[in-house]
Amino acid sequence: MTSLKSKPNPWKDIILFSLTTIPLFSVYYVGTVYKSVPPIEMVLKGFTNTGYLLIGFSLLLGSLAKFWNFFDKFLHYRKQLGIVGFIYILIHGFIGTIIYILPNPAILWTNYWAIALGVSGLYILFICYAISEIVVIQKLGPKNWRRLMRYLSYTAFILGTIHIYLAKLPVWQNYINSEIVFPPLSLIVFSFGLVVLLFRFYVFIYDALHLGHNTVKAVIAKN
Ligand code: HEM
Repeated sequence: MTSLKSKPNPWKDIILFSLTTIPLFSVYYVGTVYKSVPPIEMVLKGFTNTGYLLIGFSLLLGSLAKFWNFFDKFLHYRKQLGIVGFIYILIHGFIGTIIYILPNPAILWTNYWAIALGVSGLYILFICYAISEIVVIQKLGPKNWRRLMRYLSYTAFILGTIHIYLAKLPVWQNYINSEIVFPPLSLIVFSFGLVVLLFRFYVFIYDALHLGHNTVKAVIAKN
């Protein structure tokens, strides 16, 4: 008997999820800047912040599933979260260059490090995308591939996070000195990014201590 239950489609799920966050972020952005915003900038903010959020979720899932079995069922979303997030950030890099940098090339010098780190982060995300093919996994072996993917994706995420800090710090300072209650969208996603990175750092320390503990136990058992 054929099952009537439709097969889950992770691509569809992630795209549907992002179709709720893109308008939500766009509207939040417009509601918190207190100035008129061109529609292209409004939509772009939705894509940019959703892209960063999706990549962050894709990294966070691995850490969460290490401690709570509940998250195991979401692990198969990691690839789709990463690729859809990358595409949104690619749109951000491309349109951002057209609407912010081309009309005011001086940004390249005044915000040199912010742009350089953004471009480097995007390039590494592209490498992650390029090596997500099954042939590469078969060639490298799943263990090496997973390790390489982890190093590259975290490096890209760290560069992206510093890029946001450098690009948006003046906006955050204005917010802190103002009476406005709702924080800038960039500050919210940046805080989320810090949680992702701190949690991964915790997992790293946890693994290192456990490995050390198990090695000591194995040495004692041997002697
Ligand atoms: C070619 C590469 C890139 C370029 C040219 C670029 C350019 C920019 C520029 C000019 C800004 C400031 C204007 C704005 O507020 O939107 C910005 C902000 C931002 N960028 Fe990038 N970026 C690049 C890559 C990245 C990457 C790799 C990430 C994340 C992984 C990222 C995430 C963000 C976020 C979240 C913001 C703040 C958006 C907001 O205000 O809500 N960017 N970027």
